[in-house]
Amino acid sequence: MTGKFNLYNFEDASIMCDLKNKIVVFFIVVLSMMHFCYGVTDSIGTTSRDVNILPWPKHISLESTGQFVLSNDFSVHVKGDYNPRINTAISYFLDRIDQKTGILFIDKDIVGDSHKSNLIISIKRQGDLELFEDESYTLKITASKILLNATTDLGAIHGLETLLQLLTHNKTSFFFPLADIADTPRFPWRGLMIDVARHYQPVHVIKRNIAAMSAVKLNVFHWHLSDDQGFRVEIKSYPKLQELASDGLYYTQEEIKEVVQFASDKGIRVIPEIDVPGHATAILTAYPELASKDTLYHIERGKGVFDATLDPTNKQTYEFLESIISELAVLFPDKYFHIGGDENKGKHWGENIKIQEFKRKNNLKNNHEIQTFFNIKLQEILKKNGKIMMGWDEIFQPNLPKDIVIHSWRGKEAMIESAKKGYQSILSKGYYIDLLFDTKTHYVNDPIPLDHGLKPQQLKNILGGEATMWAELVSSINIDSRIWPRTAAIAERFWSEKTITDFNNLIPRLNAVSISLEDHGLTHLKSRRQILRNLFQTLDIEHLVVLSEVCKPITARERVGQFYKTFHPLTLFVDACTPDTPQTIRFFGLVQKFMANQENKEEIIEMLTLWKENHQNIMDSTKNPILNELLELSKTLEMLSEMTLKKIKNEEIFTVQELKKADDLLVIADMPIQNVRLAIVDEFKSLIKAINTHY
Ligand code: ACM
Repeated sequence: MTGKFNLYNFEDASIMCDLKNKIVVFFIVVLSMMHFCYGVTDSIGTTSRDVNILPWPKHISLESTGQFVLSNDFSVHVKGDYNPRINTAISYFLDRIDQKTGILFIDKDIVGDSHKSNLIISIKRQGDLELFEDESYTLKITASKILLNATTDLGAIHGLETLLQLLTHNKTSFFFPLADIADTPRFPWRGLMIDVARHYQPVHVIKRNIAAMSAVKLNVFHWHLSDDQGFRVEIKSYPKLQELASDGLYYTQEEIKEVVQFASDKGIRVIPEIDVPGHATAILTAYPELASKDTLYHIERGKGVFDATLDPTNKQTYEFLESIISELAVLFPDKYFHIGGDENKGKHWGENIKIQEFKRKNNLKNNHEIQTFFNIKLQEILKKNGKIMMGWDEIFQPNLPKDIVIHSWRGKEAMIESAKKGYQSILSKGYYIDLLFDTKTHYVNDPIPLDHGLKPQQLKNILGGEATMWAELVSSINIDSRIWPRTAAIAERFWSEKTITDFNNLIPRLNAVSISLEDHGLTHLKSRRQILRNLFQTLDIEHLVVLSEVCKPITARERVGQFYKTFHPLTLFVDACTPDTPQTIRFFGLVQKFMANQENKEEIIEMLTLWKENHQNIMDSTKNPILNELLELSKTLEMLSEMTLKKIKNEEIFTVQELKKADDLLVIADMPIQNVRLAIVDEFKSLIKAINTHY
């Protein structure tokens, strides 16, 4: 971590013979220790050692010196409840340490004798994969022993992930810093939703994302299994679903069981979603007799909101739902079941005489009331199958029983309102990672707004939130780069205290975690190069990488209205780019500091020089029709960098004409080319302004 107070340096500092330095170090240590005595966690930027824990724990105190040095006699002993889940977690933990250190452990089995082992895990009981289960843990690292205590194995799994994140090294050894941690989540519901309807994701993609979720202490995988573009799970009683509504891309029931077991091993609940009564084109492609409109249905290849809707007045609709829910209820042991319920405009209901007649007879005033009628019947079916209903916030209507969960996506209002009325709710508004906003946008979005106006008892109804990976623009090649590492920042929002909001402090931790997320097979880092290699048919892509790292995809909303089909390739230049990168975030930070006090000039010069020279390098190395348009953007970057470089080096201001030229270039840089734009337009604006202020 650059520019940050790094307590690791105390080891080096302790050998300094300069008395003045020793006194300074002494006072810093004393101040730090005083700070830790209060268990301060809200200003981590100035108090923490250079550790990359993410999400940040509730209480942490770090010794400024000393370490537990890792050697090949490292071994683990479990006290109390020892079950297959913790066994799997320990093996996975040891494998990852092995891979990072190359240390060949003498014993990788769980050691029977606690005296012989140096990591002792105490677990009181097996955790239930249920809402409000105890996930807390404490971790004490001394020079000779590590003690991990948890009520449940779920807490112990979190503790192991924290311990792994603490693994660090110097020139001579791998070690854990001495620490005392007591950690527990802020919210019990910390989820990631993946839409596999718009683009199917193979089982291995789902699994690697579940493993990554566990590494950042998320605990709910919400599986959006059906939508207009596909129905993705085998239903034995209604086989036409997989035969006609999935293009052959669906999960067999065996595969579902395999994923649910895998998730369970990682301490993660799995909630299925079958989106009804709208978003039903795929279902009605297979079973048009359940439709509100008598027409031909085909799996949807476009994007948007469509009109295909189940007929809520048809007995067969409920027989169908009862059958699929009873099959899914067995496959998904979790108590909660998501029924979607979003974006039904009821167009086909309005056009159907029989449904309108039904509405009058049953005294239903509008389409919302028809949907509530439908939801109440659906809830009865779910209840019969031992399930609690949850749905998107459109289902929040009067007359629904209180034991449902409202999933707020259109705004925080529904969440607050439902909490006030006694409904439990979770939030996804602000966590739509498919929209391709930058990390900070999501990170600063607290689930509970300051002006919530809720009483303490009502506040408890807000269970947490979920990041949502809608899949219009993702394939198995780019999906990980859309989920990670931004979802790790969201995970911190759900787990850590409300006060942990320092973005500058997050960044080095996020960069470190991003690298270790590759342990789980995620491709969020390597897909950039894979896509560029494939697109330009060359191994010589480093200059294209440099360009891609300062380009960002236009937002998903901007793509609405463009020509789109689900079968379009998602392996183009835009798919190699991400909303932000370590490079854009670094430039942002450097410019901020330069604006404040002219710091970081040399580092800014280094980055500008790279971008200035990159254009010629691309021109020299690559010829390709796809590149032609992008060259314009690359040239604009070159010109902006060149101008700014000259000014900052010479410490001179931009003249009026030069400012106009820079402005024009920035307008061009901000215009989408091949669905990307320059990601550092605002930073250039700030830098130019700062140059003209400082010089
Ligand atoms: C949604 O984004 N339609 C829940």
